[in-house]
Amino acid sequence: MPVKYIPYYPNTVEGQAILDNITRTQRVLRYRENDKVYDRIKRGMPFYEVEPIETVGEPSENLVIRGECISACAYLKEQGIKVDLVYIDPPFASGADYAKKVFLRKNPKIADNIAVAKQEMDMEELKAFEEKMYGDIWKKEDYLNWMYENLIAIKSIMNDNGSIYFHIDLNIGHYAKILMDEVFVGYEFNEIVWVCGLMGFGDIYPKAHETIFVYRKADSYFHAPYRRGYSERITNALQKDSEGWYYTRGRETSGGGNNLKTYICNNQKLSKEEAIAEANKNRPQSAWSVWIGKDDIANSYGDYGVGTYAYTEKENVGYATQKPEALLQRVISASSDKEMVVADFFGGSGVTSKVANDLGRKFIHVDIGINSIQTVRDRLIEAKANFQILEIKDGVSLFRNPQQTMDKLKMLIPGLLQGLPGISKFWFGAVIHSKEGTIPVYVPNLLNSQEKVLDIPTINIIINQELQNLEVNVKKVIVYYIDIDDQKELEKFIKENNATEIEVALKDLKNLLHDVVIEDIIDFKTTQINDGFETEIKKFISDRLIQKIGEFNQKGNLQSIAKGKKFNPIIISEEGLELIELIALDGENTEGQWHSTTEIKIDKLGYVITNGVKSKNFWDGKIISDKKPLRIKVRNISGDETIKVIE
Ligand SMILES: C[S@@+](CC[C@H](N)C(=O)[O-])C[C@H]1O[C@@H](n2cnc3c(N)ncnc32)[C@H](O)[C@@H]1O
Repeated sequence: MPVKYIPYYPNTVEGQAILDNITRTQRVLRYRENDKVYDRIKRGMPFYEVEPIETVGEPSENLVIRGECISACAYLKEQGIKVDLVYIDPPFASGADYAKKVFLRKNPKIADNIAVAKQEMDMEELKAFEEKMYGDIWKKEDYLNWMYENLIAIKSIMNDNGSIYFHIDLNIGHYAKILMDEVFVGYEFNEIVWVCGLMGFGDIYPKAHETIFVYRKADSYFHAPYRRGYSERITNALQKDSEGWYYTRGRETSGGGNNLKTYICNNQKLSKEEAIAEANKNRPQSAWSVWIGKDDIANSYGDYGVGTYAYTEKENVGYATQKPEALLQRVISASSDKEMVVADFFGGSGVTSKVANDLGRKFIHVDIGINSIQTVRDRLIEAKANFQILEIKDGVSLFRNPQQTMDKLKMLIPGLLQGLPGISKFWFGAVIHSKEGTIPVYVPNLLNSQEKVLDIPTINIIINQELQNLEVNVKKVIVYYIDIDDQKELEKFIKENNATEIEVALKDLKNLLHDVVIEDIIDFKTTQINDGFETEIKKFISDRLIQKIGEFNQKGNLQSIAKGKKFNPIIISEEGLELIELIALDGENTEGQWHSTTEIKIDKLGYVITNGVKSKNFWDGKIISDKKPLRIKVRNISGDETIKVIE
């Protein structure tokens, strides 16, 4: 349960920005269930307990927050933290689930591997399976209601003259623009078209651009972005005047308009080659609103081909939907000055924070998934940034991320069956009990933050609608919750309003999950050596991964039998060291916040990164530290972390 509720942006309810209370919106954006949003907005942003997890480097104001956008905003508002620039690239309602490829590492205990290690590994040879990161399948109404709340939460912590860049695409962007207009009334609007390259297949207008909506105040910081020269295509568009001089229209001129020719280089007569060379120099432009992925946003992009964003291999951290640093460089340098606070509430791979730090801004990264937090952490350590990691106890990401938690629940609820006749889709499934018969089970959809808190309206729907609609004879239903408004109040409400004989049992999902998440086992030995301490990992057992790989092998086997092909299963060695991604030692504390005195990360090719510094060495199964380690932390390749105190 939230500790308290923090009001959204003042005057939101009474003022302009509620979906239903301005005439324009009543006509344009009237969709099912938008009234539901009222109560939650009046109540405020849920403020949960926040736990400091780790401090990296020197104390600083930079934050990496694991939690939902809305609860992170509640925390920031409560702390009096304001931001100057927001860039968000939330789920696009794309209708897809995003997964991460999980690569097995080399096992240093297997000599063969070390021998081959001298050669570059072929990516195709790497063994990998997939883990879901986040789902992006929405009903339009749900998405808009959810996004609306996120937007007013974000506005609540923006400085009055702050700017916001909202990255979106054709799936839901046009509706999102209307929400933005409502929430950011009084702001100036610009639209940037980012030609990201071919992102869609098919014959009919495949997607090749995304849109960034910019809302800023007249007095917001703005420094016209530099445009990195012209591509061949654009130089071809340079025009010749009657005297044979090359010019472009309306560039570096005052007044603008077509009648103003701007001769390149102060009216010097230039040959075409000189004109091109001039045009290719970095020069400030007025806010040019079409950013062309390959040619303009960064000249150095490799063309990764259809269906991927064009970032360089160097900055590729393997996060689906990762955006290029050059895009963020332009956004951040245009709309923030040094020392200003730049925030991204759907931070993903951490591109915003990384670039903000490089450019001398302060940063706040928020994301709901553990994989995002680990990716940005490691990326920022490589960038030598100082920051603090916080975790909001909002209960949504119990198992790595909400998507995986939902999948896990199907297996965790003992005896759960789905798709039984007579049990509607409202129920997650049902359990058949020898004495109590069929017990329908309700589970909130963790992917939809609006269902997260079990409150009287939800209970009301259950007892006055769903219990009546059941087509099977039922004595009991189980209602799981992740977060509950006021349990006593709800139980009283059920007692007073349940007209059926059916018992409604309320159960906490967290207990269910906590009971089954088994920690990984680390078998290690620390010994003192001449110049410090050596910790050797002898064995690593991860039941979660063994189970996952077992499922992968089984599925792969069945698929290849069906196709008549040979399948090479993933086999884990007895030592299990190929399941390790990161090992860190804390030489300062045995409890509380983590402080890495030294750490090594093993990248997917098996190379070791020590304290953020990359090498071409392979891991030898050991980690050396100057200080005596008091705790060890091991992160497995799917992102689960296990911490052990060293006796
Ligand atoms: C499109 S990705 C962002 C990619 C990012 N711009 C990058 O370049 O890597 C969207 C992110 O939003 C996160 N997310 C989804 N729902 C969220 C919520 N309610 N609060 C915070 N983060 C959320 C997902 O975990 C995912 O990492």
